[in-house]
Formats: sequence, C-alpha cells, structure tokens
Amino acid sequence: MVKKIHGGDIYTDRKLPPDVKLVDFSANLNPLGMPQAVKDALCRDVDSYQNYPDPQCRQLRRAIGAYYGVPDDWIVCGNGAADVIWRLVLARKPRRALLPAPTFSEYAEALESVGCEICYYDLPQKAGFVPDEGFLDAVCPGVEICFFCNPNNPTGIAAKAEWVRRLMERCQKNGTLLVLDECFADFLEEEQRYTALPFLSAFPGTVILKAFTKMYAMAGIRLGYALCADRQLILQISQTGQAWSVSSPASSCGIAALTQRDFVQKTKRFIAEERNFLQKELENLGLQVYAGKANYLLFQAPTDDLPRRLERFGILIRSCGNYRGLDNRYCRVAVKNREDNTRLINGIRQVLKTEPGNAETERGKSGWQRQL
Ligand SMILES: Cc1ncc(COP(=O)(O)O)c(C=O)c1O
Repeated sequence: MVKKIHGGDIYTDRKLPPDVKLVDFSANLNPLGMPQAVKDALCRDVDSYQNYPDPQCRQLRRAIGAYYGVPDDWIVCGNGAADVIWRLVLARKPRRALLPAPTFSEYAEALESVGCEICYYDLPQKAGFVPDEGFLDAVCPGVEICFFCNPNNPTGIAAKAEWVRRLMERCQKNGTLLVLDECFADFLEEEQRYTALPFLSAFPGTVILKAFTKMYAMAGIRLGYALCADRQLILQISQTGQAWSVSSPASSCGIAALTQRDFVQKTKRFIAEERNFLQKELENLGLQVYAGKANYLLFQAPTDDLPRRLERFGILIRSCGNYRGLDNRYCRVAVKNREDNTRLINGIRQVLKTEPGNAETERGKSGWQRQL
C-alpha cells in the first residue's frame, strides 16, 4: 500500500516562532496566485450558493467544451482531478493496471481500492526517468487500464506528442483504457508539442485528465475534469459517486478561469524563467537536477533528511521517498517567485554545509534562522 503523503501540508503545527514565515515548496501551485477574475467571480456569485449546484455542471462543461473546441458530452467534472481518478476507477473496476514508476501515487491508491493488480514499469533512472520503448511494450493484452502522467509528477519529464500517440495506438490495439494525466501540461511553454488533445477524437479509449488546481492556484476550491470521446464512459463516470461533486463556487471559478488566456501565457513565461534560475542554483550547490519542464523540479540530495532539516527554516519541500522507484534523497520543489526561490537556495546551502542532526549549528547560535 502506498503511503498517503501529498504536498501542501501547511496545517501541521511545526512550532515555528511567529516571525518565521512558512514557505511551501511542496505543493506545485502557480506562484502568481489566483487570477483576480476568479476571485471576483467567486464573490459576485455568492447569492447563488444557497442553492444546490447543477449536478450535470452544464454551464461549466459548456465553457470547457468551448475552450478546447470539443462537445460538452465529452467532459465530466469533479472535486479536483483526484476525484475524477477515483470515480473513473470505481466506474470501471479494472482487474489489471499498468503504471510507470515513479508517478503520482493517487492512481495506485484508487486502483488498490477496487482490488486491481498493478504492474509497474520502472522508468530508467540513468536516462533521467524519460519514458522509453519498454513502457510501450509493457502495454499488452490483459492490461485493462494504463495511467500516464505528462508531464510526469514528480519528475517533470514531458513526453512528446508523437510518443504519446504511439502509446495511444498501443493501448487501442490491446483494448487498454489509457488515462493521460495532463494536469501540469498548462505550464509547458510549447504545450502543443506535448498534449494529446488533437488526437482525442481518433482514440475514444483515451481519457485526458485536467485540473484548475495548479495553473489557477485553486487547490482549495477543488475542480478538475476529464475529456474523452467515448460518451458512454463519460456518462458512466458522471453517474459514479455522489451527485454534487462540483460546488457552485467551484463552477463559478472555473468558468472565470477559462477567460484568463493572457494569465496562462504570462505564467508560462514566468515559470520558465524561474525554473531555469532554480535549476542552475541547485546545480551550483552540486545537486543532481532532473530535466523537468513543469512548475516543479526533482533533484537528488546527498542526504536523506533535507526536507526535515529545511522545516526548521520554515521551508517545506516534498520528500519523494514514498514514490515507488525513489528514495528519501529525492526531493521535489515547486517553482515560486524569485524571493522565495532564493530563500530556498539559501536554506539548502545552509543545511548542506552543516553536520546532519546539528540543529543548533543549522539555526545559528541565537535560535531560528529568520533571514535566509
Ligand atoms: C499529476 C497530478 N494529477 C492530479 C492531481 C490531483 O489534482 P487535484 O488537486 O485537482 O485533485 C495531482 C495533485 O497533486 C497531480 O499531481
């Protein structure tokens, strides 16, 4: 059983002094924050929240359909992309699944909940976790479902659309339902070179997962969706689980978010610049950084307690020890703004130059390190 650990745990009391600000690099949310238009929509529609939301999410699905140029009945919305993953698995109850390792742990948790046997394909660490031919070969008769995250969490590695198309063909040939998680694809500078959206109509056995969570910093609102040309499957997912998985505030926010095309472009440029900065700085500290293209970076630290030691400085990063195929030396950090990124680099530098376990040296003799 995969341990249930995600990023974004800002709620545990870490007993930090009041003047040590907590900076969370463990959840990969847009550092530009929630767009103003989304905040405005959230407040504007407040009087409508006394009613039940539309269980069919008609307005929201129309907006998503118009955004991608696909019919509304190719879309099912949920309480975050995680909810869609669980409902899809519950609707299908597959007996055998293929997952790459490492990847997002929620797939395995959902599959295990229905007693599904999981076959893992270890992405080659020496090749920087880039998916290879072996993964395509691992799709064979009897594999009922395959999840593929592009760009992958936690590596940030993005597979090109031509390769993904081959995966779709392979799955179609073997009767395997393919779930392509593109929740982080919005952050790719050249998204069109990676996304499988243009192939969707030709491959009704492929589901694409998307979320408002990361790009629009709407993690607390909870809104995700799936796109698929198999209308029957979409209907099956929407009829699984409780009726009102998308709240009215979530729906208002989603519709407003889809108007924010300039914000998305601005974010892509911002992330690319800050990711390059962060990558260079991490490499200057002698750390091995993987070639991620999303709004986070995976790196290998020389010690397996870096996340715990950084907490003392009010810095949260994601230990990747619970990802199959990785150990506690692997860490994932979100790309944030320059001030926060610099604070992270200074914190890691400080930790690396002190002896492990010597909290006093790490904090400085006077107590907590307030300025990094
Ligand atoms: C790859 C991937 N897919 C889906 C999700 C779930 O997103 P949501 O918060 O919209 O449920 C996450 C969350 O971290 C993720 O990393």
